[in-house]
Formats: sequence, C-alpha cells, structure tokens
Amino acid sequence: MSKQHWSDYWSTGALTSLPADFKINYDGELAEYWFSVIEGLAPNSRILDVCTGNGAVAIMLAEMLKRIGKEVSITAVDASEINQQMMVQSFPDKKQVVDSIDFISNCYIEDLKQCVEQKFDLIVSQYGIEYCDEEMVAKQITDALNSGGRLVFVSHSPHTAMLEFMEAEEIIYQYIENEGVLEYLQKFIDNKMTVNGFKNKLVNTLQSFSQHTLKSHPLLNSWGENLFQLYQMDNQQLKLKKPQIKSYLNLNINARARANDMLNVCYKLKNNPDWYKTFTTSGLQLINDGEIHYKSKHNVGHYYEFIKRD
Ligand SMILES: C[S@@+](CC[C@H](N)C(=O)[O-])C[C@H]1O[C@@H](n2cnc3c(N)ncnc32)[C@H](O)[C@@H]1O
Repeated sequence: MSKQHWSDYWSTGALTSLPADFKINYDGELAEYWFSVIEGLAPNSRILDVCTGNGAVAIMLAEMLKRIGKEVSITAVDASEINQQMMVQSFPDKKQVVDSIDFISNCYIEDLKQCVEQKFDLIVSQYGIEYCDEEMVAKQITDALNSGGRLVFVSHSPHTAMLEFMEAEEIIYQYIENEGVLEYLQKFIDNKMTVNGFKNKLVNTLQSFSQHTLKSHPLLNSWGENLFQLYQMDNQQLKLKKPQIKSYLNLNINARARANDMLNVCYKLKNNPDWYKTFTTSGLQLINDGEIHYKSKHNVGHYYEFIKRD
C-alpha cells in the first residue's frame, strides 16, 4: 500500500500525527507512560521505534534518556519518507537529538529484516503497529528482539471521541466530493474551466454548504471560508491563485487519506479486539496492558507490553 499521503504529511515538518492535540510532541500522561517504559533500561541498550513517522516517540525517548544520563542507541523506521530536515526546520532546538537517531525511510515492518539487521532490547511503537499486517509484523518483531527484550506499543483506542470526529470528517469529505467541488477545482487548475464558469460553481457550492446540517463543523466551515475568499477575488487575482488552489486541494486529499487510514484501523480494532494476541502466538508473552487517559479524561490509547522469554 502506498504511503505517499504520509510522506507528504511528514514533509510539512509536522512532528506528531495528531497536531491539533499534540503540536510540539506527545505530553502529559502519554509522555509519563513512555518514561515509565525507558526508566529502568540498561545502559547501552538498543531501541527501535517502528512506524515512527517524523520520529515523535523516538525523539521523546532520546530526550528523556539524555535527561537521566543514559546512553542508548535509537533506530526509527517508517514505510513513508521521514523528513528530518523539514522537521528540524520546524523545531530547530531538536536538531541535536534528531541527529542522534538513526532514521530509516521506506521500511515496511512486514519486511523489517530487509532494512535493519541488528537485534534490539526494546521495540516501541505508537499509533503505528496496528496499521500493519499484524501476523507478518509479529514474526519480524519477535525475531528482531534480543532474548529478554520487550515490545511496547500504544495503539489507537477504537472507543474514543477521535473515531466520531473522523467519521464526521469523512461524511464532509464525501459530501464535498459528491458536490463536484474537487473535480471543478482540478478543472480550473488545469485550465479546463473559465474563470466565470468557476465562479458560478463557487456560488452554487457556497449556497449548498450554507444549508448543510454540518455547516458549523470546523472542516466544512474552513472549506466554506476558503471558497468564499476565492469567490471574492477578481478574475485576474483568481488566475494567479492557481498554484495555491492546487496545494490546498492536495493537502485535503492527503488529509482525507490519512483520516481514512485511521478510521480503517479503528474499525479493525473494534471488530477484532483480540488482534494484539497475534504477538503471543509469535512467541512473546503479554506482561501488561491498559488504557491511557490524557488530562485524566480523554482516552488516547491502549498500551501493550510484551517480553521475549529465553
Ligand atoms: C498515525 S502515524 C504515527 C506516527 C508516529 N508514531 C506518531 O505517533 O505520531 C502512522 C505511521 O505508520 C506508518 N506505517 C503504516 N503502515 C506501515 C507499515 N506497514 N510499515 C511501516 N510503517 C507503516 C505510516 O507511514 C505513518 O507514518
């Protein structure tokens, strides 16, 4: 499966996959949980973060370990293109820690052996492992762990407000698509529609938006505002605006693809609550699991801790 929508997202320099809630990095109870995972780690351990994205968890762990004076090596892998450069541009104070991590792009966990040869004492993942084929990754991860090593991951929880939020977003994306908005924006960019024809389409769309039951949803609202701004421009300004319209369109197509990934993963977990047991059949032992609540109320995920016994 192509991960272009994730690569495009990471190329914006974002650090987390939930920037509305976690702009700088994951914090609060999530960070406290991760600290408890690495606190007792032996010096010179090797850590691997799988489905790392732009390395949010790898960076957080590296910073924590530095703070408590522990030398460890951290490798971070993802199927998409990891964009350290853009990320350092967004967060210049993280340059040193980013440079200390060995990032590997285009690495599918189902084929982990092909991109990393070493074995690890701790393999971690957050909002990642559940995106993979768990049967295939369970074997790869078990093989990549040293004896006595741990696999610790935090997965999305399918019963969170996030699921409802993404379902509402998908309804809006579908509605926008059905209204033909994406199609006429593309036609206008490709010079297959006149400016006046484009403006007529915009009027009809804005009228339809204003009657929609979800018209005050932030996503539909922002689409409405952006299309209204275009409508207000004079013909010459509109023609010059095509590159920005193109970026806006791509941004939204990718955002929808990412939201769909997350939705499908949440449905998968909901329909098969025992999905994580695959890791026990591949030779690991479950030693702990539970929910993490952010600011003592929002459920931000389920953690699972496994160990590879001798
Ligand atoms: C929701 S993001 C999570 C990123 C990061 N761990 C975080 O907590 O912000 C999911 C990531 O998993 C990656 N991914 C999905 N399927 C994958 C696979 N089969 N192998 C490796 N990475 C994968 C995507 O490219 C994406 O970067």
